[in-house]
Amino acid sequence: MTAITDTYLAETYTAQLNPNLPSPELLALSAEVIRQGGLVAFPTETVYGLGANAWSESAVDNIFRAKQRPANDPIIVHIDDMELLQEVAVDIPDIAYNLVDKFWAGALTLILKKHDRIPYNVTAGRDTVAVRMPNHPVALGLIHQANVPIAAPSANRFSRPSPTKAQHVLEDLDGHVDIIFDAGATDIGVESTILDLTSAIPTVLRPGGVTIEALREVLPTVALRPTYFDESDESIPSPGTLTKHYAPSAEMRVFTGENEQQVLSQMAQEANSAVDRGLSVGILALDTDAQAFEDVFANIVLLGDTLESMAQHLFAGIRQLDQQEVDVIMARAPQQSEIGLAIWDRLHRSAEGNLITVS
Ligand code: TXA
Ligand code: MG
Repeated sequence: MTAITDTYLAETYTAQLNPNLPSPELLALSAEVIRQGGLVAFPTETVYGLGANAWSESAVDNIFRAKQRPANDPIIVHIDDMELLQEVAVDIPDIAYNLVDKFWAGALTLILKKHDRIPYNVTAGRDTVAVRMPNHPVALGLIHQANVPIAAPSANRFSRPSPTKAQHVLEDLDGHVDIIFDAGATDIGVESTILDLTSAIPTVLRPGGVTIEALREVLPTVALRPTYFDESDESIPSPGTLTKHYAPSAEMRVFTGENEQQVLSQMAQEANSAVDRGLSVGILALDTDAQAFEDVFANIVLLGDTLESMAQHLFAGIRQLDQQEVDVIMARAPQQSEIGLAIWDRLHRSAEGNLITVS
């Protein structure tokens, strides 16, 4: 019997680099690592990605092994120019070009019909491929120098929160990636929006950095169908969007409800009673919500005072509380519009679907 502990092993080298002016020597060296079938973790504007040569089945296999990612979960292909788009996808509809004009380089991933040249494991056997052009000089520089499209999932271990700092990548993948670029914290903090252009109605499978409201300006008919299925559900259109995802070790309790003040006071109450039962409690909160927890004995991580800032700091906050080994993490789900929808989605998944509605 073959061991299922198969992984990708490497001596991990972390390189600091200027996000706006990355060293050409470092990019050239890392591009060579990519071409040779190795793995490079790099920043994008959303989260850090774990990159491999998308033309090489064995290189892409290293991603699955390093992350311990299930083989049925397809990977996004990252490109740096429009010529490359036609080498990875076919039958590209006009609407794709309209969207690309407005949103690339940026946090929008398009699902298109795949080109024959894309290896089987990149798309997990599907006839569609996910493509995006990231808006980050390091990511673009690396793809350009490597002169190949780069397949890259988020650079976390499977089911851990996505990394928004190089340190997070190191925590999860030290010894399983050749090079980690450290170019500081990522800007958006949640992953790209995934838009399926192969379904009859263009459908968002994962809300992300580009908002539905912005998409509607180009594509008024866009539908939203994030998937919160069980792993056993065969109709899953996007397996990485399983409910169990971004799950911290702590129990995650996400609160929602019409009346913000009511939600906050219920959270404070539950936090206090958890503390009374001897549990250690972590709270993720907007600065403006912090007052509600003044009398609560908990580790409070403040995420800033806008939804953009909340998105930016959310995954780091979950990781921080996990490291402090709290038993419970509590958070209030934001409004389901603009970037709030992506935050809501990630909180919902990290709570494995168990939202507490306060009415
Ligand atoms: O912002 C992002 O999208 C980051 C950065 C690194 O680009 N990447 C990222 O990759 O979040 P990953 O693998 O963690 O999430 C990609 C999602 C997965 O849920 C996967 O199932 C879905 O995209 N996906 C990939 N190819 C697909 C396809 N052909 N059809 C449907 N879903 C697909
Ligand atoms: Mg991921």
